[in-house]
Amino acid sequence: MSVRRLHSEQPSEFAFTSENLAFAKQQIAKYPPNRQASAIIALLWQAQEQVGGWLPEPAIRYVADMLAMPYMRALEVATFYTMFNLSPVGKYFVQLCGTTPCWLRGAEALKSVCRKKIGAEKQMTEDGQFSWQEVECLGACVNAPMVQINNDFYEDLTAESFEAILIALQEGKEVKPGPQNARHASEPAHTPVTTTATPTTPTTANTSTPTNTNNGENRTI
Ligand code: FES
Repeated sequence: MSVRRLHSEQPSEFAFTSENLAFAKQQIAKYPPNRQASAIIALLWQAQEQVGGWLPEPAIRYVADMLAMPYMRALEVATFYTMFNLSPVGKYFVQLCGTTPCWLRGAEALKSVCRKKIGAEKQMTEDGQFSWQEVECLGACVNAPMVQINNDFYEDLTAESFEAILIALQEGKEVKPGPQNARHASEPAHTPVTTTATPTTPTTANTSTPTNTNNGENRTI
């Protein structure tokens, strides 16, 4: 895992909207007294959603204060879990799986598309529309190669179908998540084959005595 640091430019402050504050209180109420720190993942996630896909340092402090935790402990959580982005991401944030099954099925070609259409990894396009990052297995290996864009998976990709998705998003068109070939889920990629022939019963039993051929000699066991 690469080193995860806070972004060099940070907003001066953060506070939950009234709606998110209500959500946070609801989450905290799920835990026994003095165990409110258990709500940290939910609260950091909500803060990230509110900010637009990344977690600024004032938001981490804000959540730590709300949960009566030392700032350092909240920072440890935010920097440990890669689901928390410590730098701004594009409106369309592409997480490209580069782990072995996806790699074997063409993730490198998808990476080239990212470089061509978006630019360097972890950099936003000038218009703020896109950014991308390589991640580890996203759990959709049977539909490799795949990417996650915001909250949706796009699977069974080729360089061409992936590029078409990015272009469609750029043009504000709707894109269908899921497998991008003819599959609906993870069923066989080709026509399913069902065996309908009646199994035949062997007519002659093998009655010969097994032999051990060690040392070149045939010996009856
Ligand atoms: S290896 Fe890519 S989803 Fe698992």
